Amino acid sequence: MLRTRIVGTGFVTGEHRVINDALSQILETSDAWIRERTGVTERYYVEEGTATSDLGVRAAEKAITDAGIDRREIDFLVFATMTPDYYFPGCGGLAQAKLGLGHVPALDIRQQCSGFIYGLQTCDALLRSGVAKTILFMGAEVHSGFMPWDREQMRLLFGQSDQLPTAAQKEWNSRFRDRAVLFGDAGAAIVLRAEEGERGLVGAKLHADGSAFEQLYVPAAGFAYRPYLSDAQFREGRYVPVMNGRGVFKMAVTRMPDVIRELCQEKGVALDDIDLLIPHQANLRISEAVQKALGLPDEKVFNNIQRYGNTTAASIPIAYHECRKAGRIKPGDLVCFVAMGAGFHWAAALMRE
Ligand code: ACO
Repeated sequence: MLRTRIVGTGFVTGEHRVINDALSQILETSDAWIRERTGVTERYYVEEGTATSDLGVRAAEKAITDAGIDRREIDFLVFATMTPDYYFPGCGGLAQAKLGLGHVPALDIRQQCSGFIYGLQTCDALLRSGVAKTILFMGAEVHSGFMPWDREQMRLLFGQSDQLPTAAQKEWNSRFRDRAVLFGDAGAAIVLRAEEGERGLVGAKLHADGSAFEQLYVPAAGFAYRPYLSDAQFREGRYVPVMNGRGVFKMAVTRMPDVIRELCQEKGVALDDIDLLIPHQANLRISEAVQKALGLPDEKVFNNIQRYGNTTAASIPIAYHECRKAGRIKPGDLVCFVAMGAGFHWAAALMRE
């Protein structure tokens, strides 16, 4: 049996660690509120000038070393992000050039928090059909570009300034506080190959429902408008994602367990057979509710949102890398990935180690 295996992993974060107390200098929030509602204690933001493709490339260098391959063996590149460097082109081609990979195909995936699992299924199809032999798959995000505060306030967060924001600036920032505290900047990469045997991707189940997209989306900029970007959109802060937090939460805690059950049933696997669940890291409370719904013990679920915040397309591969390196995954283990994100898209995958 030909199965897709992850043969190398790596990740990087943004350059600046930002703890909750730093955010409370520029927003009406507190460390206690953020920990209690989300589990996050810190996240990283990039230095201005570091873009998503840079984080993807830095992570890719590590994954290539970890896989022990020559980069010239990579014959296909896939890049998942919702925060690309430019409106177009996507990050795939930019990363390909920065890595010096030659003219290999570069594909962009934009399924937000489900980008990793959507991308994994695409890589699996490319590998098992023989289109590609060695794929480099990156997931990276620079969410800090969404943040509604200016450079000086970012410098305060980075410990490079002691100038506090005005009351008006703090009031403006606080309008976005439910989203601003959640996200962090990071990049992750994996190297994939198809190999004969039982080990590798057992299967994936993907879903989408575009009818509720307004529960979580970025209203500006977009070609639904003419021009696609305007001063008014900027003044109104419409470049920051709009989110119905409670609605998203409710959807996540039902759809994520449902898609896992559906996939397990399809593959003839019992929930008890799952050795490790790696949920997309959107909110620790969501992961806990998914764990409870499935009746899994603590030792079978991995979370690291506390240290990185929600890193969207990078979150599952970062968690997977940490589990691999910490010995949480043994040969023969059945690992389950699950995610739900904007779109809405949700998905699960099973991987035999
Ligand atoms: N600090 C302090 N208070 C806050 C903050 C904050 N950062 N954010 C919101 N509040 C306040 C609200 O203003 C509200 O105050 P009020 O009662 O005076 O009106 C109160 O806290 C409760 O607000 P809720 O929005 O009801 O808080 P909730 O418990 O739902 O938590 C949260 C908000 C954390 C956003 C939660 O709803 C959540 O995590 N939802 C899911 C988010 C998610 O998973 N998104 C998907 C991932 S992103 C992607 O796919 C791209």
